[in-house]
Amino acid sequence: MAGVYDNDGYRLRGHQFTDAQGRYGFETIVPGLYPGRTRHFHLKVQAPGGRILTTQLYFPDEAGNARDRIFSPELLLALSEGETGATGRFDFVLDRG
Ligand SMILES: [Fe+2]
Repeated sequence: MAGVYDNDGYRLRGHQFTDAQGRYGFETIVPGLYPGRTRHFHLKVQAPGGRILTTQLYFPDEAGNARDRIFSPELLLALSEGETGATGRFDFVLDRG
């Protein structure tokens, strides 16, 4: 939450497979901020037999988005508020070639 990665216990990291329809989901916290970067998730995505895509996802309406040299508006989460908190959605389209 303070924007410090846990490089000892490696908490808040994971690995998962999609379901048969290609859907994925995880529950987590809102990542904290650290100098020079806007709020973001780090992800690696890979289609079966495909290359690994290493990327990041961003939060809309973050003041730091405009200042972050790595930020890309194409990687913004679609956020919605629900009864149990916010839900973010991002659809990856992967080339299996
Ligand atoms: Fe980061």
